Amino acid sequence: MSTFTPMDTFKLGGCPVRRMGYGAMQLAGPGVFGPPKDRDAALAVLREAVASGVNHIDTSDFYGPHVTNQIIREALHPYPDNLVIVTKVGAVRGEDGSWLPAAEPKDIERGVHDNLRNLGLDAIDVVNMRIMGSVHAPSERSIGKQIEALAELQRQGLVRHIGLSNVTSTQVAEAQGIAEIVCVQNQYNLVQRDDDALVDELAAKGIAYVPFFPLGGFTPIQSSVLSTVAQTIGATPMQVALAWLLHRSPNILLIPGTSSLGHLRENMQAAQLSLPEAVLAELDTIQQVGAGH
Ligand SMILES: NC(=O)c1ccc[n+]([C@@H]2O[C@H](COP(=O)([O-])OP(=O)(O)OC[C@H]3O[C@@H](n4cnc5c(N)ncnc54)[C@H](OP(=O)(O)O)[C@@H]3O)[C@@H](O)[C@H]2O)c1
Repeated sequence: MSTFTPMDTFKLGGCPVRRMGYGAMQLAGPGVFGPPKDRDAALAVLREAVASGVNHIDTSDFYGPHVTNQIIREALHPYPDNLVIVTKVGAVRGEDGSWLPAAEPKDIERGVHDNLRNLGLDAIDVVNMRIMGSVHAPSERSIGKQIEALAELQRQGLVRHIGLSNVTSTQVAEAQGIAEIVCVQNQYNLVQRDDDALVDELAAKGIAYVPFFPLGGFTPIQSSVLSTVAQTIGATPMQVALAWLLHRSPNILLIPGTSSLGHLRENMQAAQLSLPEAVLAELDTIQQVGAGH
């Protein structure tokens, strides 16, 4: 476990970002499809996140689709100089809301242009190549063609930095042979630790690890051990889950998703929560769910 410093930052594509960022996926409608019930509330969440110090926002044009990026633009454009927006390409949405792979070079180029247009940008700070794999878990196969396509868009000045999502260590190594990789975004949280070795490997290389589903995703983590620990230290279970990730490794950047101002405020406070060794040991007893995917 790392030594915890609450105001810590980590470099993402050359820019130091605060370790508590924000994931914008929850701002679209139900199932990440269509418009939100309350657009004004979505705008308020984004504005308060940035006002509270968030300078790393995660998004994709396939959230909505287009809706989430358009809300980000409406809420925050012109963007603060220090704001790093990270998006992802590699999928599109079917008319029924399904998530379809879109990983041919022409799809990747179109995905980057969709993000540029809907975010109102000339260049995107970081684009993650989202490999569809087994939906929320990676599977081994070459990703060279996709990274070559993104590297070409980087040469054209449309993409500043390249990241990866839903990948294995072997795929990270393959991608690094083609382009500099600044971050990896995989599923990881208190109860889903399949990527333990990858987190450490990337920390040694100075590459950011950005867990998706940091709170467990659409059904946030439920654990009696977590609830008891949280009660003992006067925090909420979700704050402890986020603080555990911040303690886990200094290269972990958080992007918890919420559509609620109350949850945003609660989550932001987790950056100040120091977990004693005894608490960390207690949290390590929580049985992993979903291990072995
Ligand atoms: N690369 C990928 O494949 C991938 C996949 C999934 C997500 N992502 C990114 O990762 C970000 C985070 O993932 P996520 O948003 O899916 O999952 P998450 O952050 O693990 O959890 C979000 C869920 O937790 C709820 N929540 C948030 N704060 C809470 C709190 N303090 N107390 C109780 N419930 C709370 C949210 O509901 P409320 O809206 O009601 O707060 C929402 O249902 C996304 O926003 C997206 O940017 C990437």
